[in-house]
Amino acid sequence: MKHLDITIPLTSATYDELDDTQRNLVDKARAMTRQSYAPYSKFHVGAAILLDNGEIITGANQENVAYPSGICAERTAAFYAHARYPEAKFKAIAIAAHDTSGNEVVMPISPCGACRQVLLEYEQLAGADVQVLLAGADEVYILPSVHSIMPLAFVDFD
Ligand code: THU
Repeated sequence: MKHLDITIPLTSATYDELDDTQRNLVDKARAMTRQSYAPYSKFHVGAAILLDNGEIITGANQENVAYPSGICAERTAAFYAHARYPEAKFKAIAIAAHDTSGNEVVMPISPCGACRQVLLEYEQLAGADVQVLLAGADEVYILPSVHSIMPLAFVDFD
């Protein structure tokens, strides 16, 4: 028997410590929290995806009275990005959220399992790491890749 630890390399940065590209992506994710349709959870999430063609595709969570029919901000953006630009590779994603009070969450939120699985596939299609930026009110978590937050993922085994 052997014991293994899986670690996640996470950098916590202030907004000012980000580079211009990262700041722009975080700004767009934060702005998109205002576009969220979340009358049930009242939890508003925005996402912004940078593609290698320079386009930034944004999305916000969309809910429905039949609760499971809603979808997260990350998948709203990811599915549209790949539908709109099927040849483009994902380079980075930023995610932000505000709560019922309208204030940005203090602790960065991180994508649910379904979104990680979806983003992982686009990372694999890109053939390179997709940086993940998780914005909180005072700090931004920088993760180097989707696979770093999705260890032991199910992948196509063909
Ligand atoms: N949500 C997202 O859009 N992204 C996440 O990373 C976590 C959760 C949404 C789903 C639902 O509309 C609301 O936030 C509350 O869970």
